[in-house]
Amino acid sequence: MRIMVCRDKAAQGEAAASLFAAQILRKADSVLGFATGSTPLMTYAALAGLCERGAVDFSKARTFNLDEYVGMDPSHEQSYSRFMADNLFSKVNIPRENCQLPNGNAKDMDAECGRYEAAIEAAGGIDLQLLGIGHNGHIGFNEPSGHFARKTHCVTLTETTIEANKRFFASAGEMPRRALSMGIGTIMKARGIVLVIHGEDKADITAKAIRGPVTPSVPASILQFHPDVTVILDETAAAKL
Ligand code: PGA
Repeated sequence: MRIMVCRDKAAQGEAAASLFAAQILRKADSVLGFATGSTPLMTYAALAGLCERGAVDFSKARTFNLDEYVGMDPSHEQSYSRFMADNLFSKVNIPRENCQLPNGNAKDMDAECGRYEAAIEAAGGIDLQLLGIGHNGHIGFNEPSGHFARKTHCVTLTETTIEANKRFFASAGEMPRRALSMGIGTIMKARGIVLVIHGEDKADITAKAIRGPVTPSVPASILQFHPDVTVILDETAAAKL
């Protein structure tokens, strides 16, 4: 793991965006794995800025997102589809048909998980995957459990995650209880990974994930076994390393 500590969130975003821009410069039709949440916002803002200035060209890039809520229309303002459209896809020159997320509205969830996994494979696999981390160590919606999920699957969200994300919904009752998520195996197959973590509230889980034992009770700890991970921290998240 390469670990870098930035002064603040904006610098983290610029650092992560630089890695994605470099990936696209090396390979125009790169397959990029993207994430949602507050963590990637600065990265997306920095990528939008680079694209606007003509420093990076998304026209041939293809993207797959980590996850999506079950039972949510892609146009719902809290859907991850909408999040990506608002924060990145509408701000860079990527053709929308090149951008995929799991379909949380599919009739048959198992079939949708299989389709998504196959689509990633058919694209040649993910070149560079962006990740945040949950307070419980989740990546994507791979929640702490007794095993590492291999493939895209349907998950029941934990109370910690519902607690963390319900703030985005008008009421806690509106927050979906299930999601489709790439598996840990799907994520580990990405050729490169960029993990961004900020905030003192993430200092404990950062130390556990990066320095602690590799265990499915801290899903992000598996990244210690990946050959090409860059961890981009701010000073507060790095405080307990
Ligand atoms: P956050 O979420 O970026 O909103 O903290 C990260 C995650 O849950 O993966």
